[in-house]
Amino acid sequence: MYKLLIIGATSAIAQATAKVFVERHAQNIALFLVARDAQKLQSIAADLKVRGATAVNFAALDVNQFEQHQAVIQQAVQQLGGLDTVLIAHGTLDDQKACEQDFKYAEQCLRTNFLSVVSLLTPLANEMEQQRYGCIAVISSVAGDRGRQSNYVYGAAKGGLNTFLQGLRNRLFRSHVKVLTIKPGFVDSPMTAHLKKGALWAQPETVAVGIYQAIQKGKNEVYLPWFWYGIMTIVKNIPETVFKRLKM
Ligand SMILES: NC(=O)c1ccc[n+]([C@@H]2O[C@H](COP(=O)([O-])OP(=O)(O)OC[C@H]3O[C@@H](n4cnc5c(N)ncnc54)[C@H](OP(=O)(O)O)[C@@H]3O)[C@@H](O)[C@H]2O)c1
Repeated sequence: MYKLLIIGATSAIAQATAKVFVERHAQNIALFLVARDAQKLQSIAADLKVRGATAVNFAALDVNQFEQHQAVIQQAVQQLGGLDTVLIAHGTLDDQKACEQDFKYAEQCLRTNFLSVVSLLTPLANEMEQQRYGCIAVISSVAGDRGRQSNYVYGAAKGGLNTFLQGLRNRLFRSHVKVLTIKPGFVDSPMTAHLKKGALWAQPETVAVGIYQAIQKGKNEVYLPWFWYGIMTIVKNIPETVFKRLKM
């Protein structure tokens, strides 16, 4: 039985990824879903069961309630009886201008996008280190690759996350636990509903297939869709003296 824990399970990308997993492991997959909206969780769980999941349980959690993390992780591990894969998907694209004006918005952005993930990964990494198998997959962003004036607080949270995941991957290598950093580009989801869409935009379903394949292949890092690897290689290599003059 494949055992999958998803945190931030109401996210559009997470929902699409859960469907891919259930499709590929039909009648042989148990899921534990975590998100803050219990009603949404209930309907997502019912849908995944109809699609062929063997068992779907869930727990409501606001990820900024750090003191509840240990108990929720314990509940998931007990209910599933181990963990093959953990996907962490929650996030918020906070208002950059508000973050610049008042630190309380920047703090909120860093708590949700960085600190909550570090807090969740502390008991999760220890659990997986003990069981000596499994994959920790975390949705970061291309925004973490280089700070830009339009979203550098969110970008700093994701950049910090990337460094944390690198270290965790290095630590867990000898325990045979894989750590996957997922870096999507622009994805058409509720998070980006207010933004104008263009040629570089992808659907959550496309990104979901990429996440599934990267987990199956045991990759360390994946850009989704693939062309973001090329774009970010160029962006990262622009000299700082030039980059600071650009409007990005
Ligand atoms: N969309 C993009 O262009 C894009 C690009 C790069 C990376 N990403 C990353 O991809 C991941 C998924 O985002 P998405 O595009 O699928 O957007 P989404 O559908 O808006 O999902 C964001 C999810 O985060 C959850 N969330 C936010 N704050 C939370 C909290 N305090 N406690 C619990 N859950 C919380 C939301 O829960 P509710 O449903 O309850 O609000 C929602 O399920 C995020 O990590 C995001 O940073 C997205």
